[in-house]
Amino acid sequence: MSVKLAVVYYSTYGTNYQMASIAAEAAKSAGAELRLLKAPETVADEIVASVEGWKATVDKTAHIRTATPADLVWADAFLFSAPTRYGVQASQMRAFIDTLGPIWAKGDLANKPVSAMTSAQNAHGGQEQTLMSFYASAIHWGSVIVAPGYTDPAIYKTGGNPYGYSHTQGQPFTDEDKASIGHQARRLVAMAAKLKA
Ligand SMILES: Cc1cc2nc3c(=O)[nH]c(=O)nc-3n(C[C@H](O)[C@H](O)[C@H](O)COP(=O)(O)O)c2cc1C
Repeated sequence: MSVKLAVVYYSTYGTNYQMASIAAEAAKSAGAELRLLKAPETVADEIVASVEGWKATVDKTAHIRTATPADLVWADAFLFSAPTRYGVQASQMRAFIDTLGPIWAKGDLANKPVSAMTSAQNAHGGQEQTLMSFYASAIHWGSVIVAPGYTDPAIYKTGGNPYGYSHTQGQPFTDEDKASIGHQARRLVAMAAKLKA
């Protein structure tokens, strides 16, 4: 019985898109049925188009479908990835989360494992607080938080963040980063499989 995983990201400059893509590949290789989805953009097209890096990400990710609440009903587990902004997730991701009220009310988010990743400009720019902002919502949903903890040596090699993988914007994605993201994604799939059994 394969696990259905929704990887939902928001990314202005491409960092979280890369993280979500790495996670999706790892989850797929662990046998998950996968939907890689982006949170809807809330900013007007002309503003997006006026920022080179932002427009480039939109163009590069044009093939990625936009997430809907129905995707989370479909999924057995969720992996979120979004930039740190003032210590919480980017408002685009927040806006998507705010559309989940009707499925939350039906219990469609309950009992499903959730994990989160983030990025920030600074090495200590509020990453853990952003991850906690995801997990606070997960608590309200009755979901099951599957943070990586210190369950694999890969965590120590990438900053040792037990709340979830976090990336510093502009840094390359090393094999160690990929291993850390991969571990988080595979662990989420493994926990979802146990809950589904
Ligand atoms: C409004 C705003 C607030 C931000 N706040 C923080 C912050 O508090 N700490 C930090 O380190 N970086 C902050 N950043 C930088 C973002 O975290 C960074 O651009 C993001 O991680 C890049 O991810 P992306 O490439 O997926 O868009 C902020 C960026 C914006 C636009």
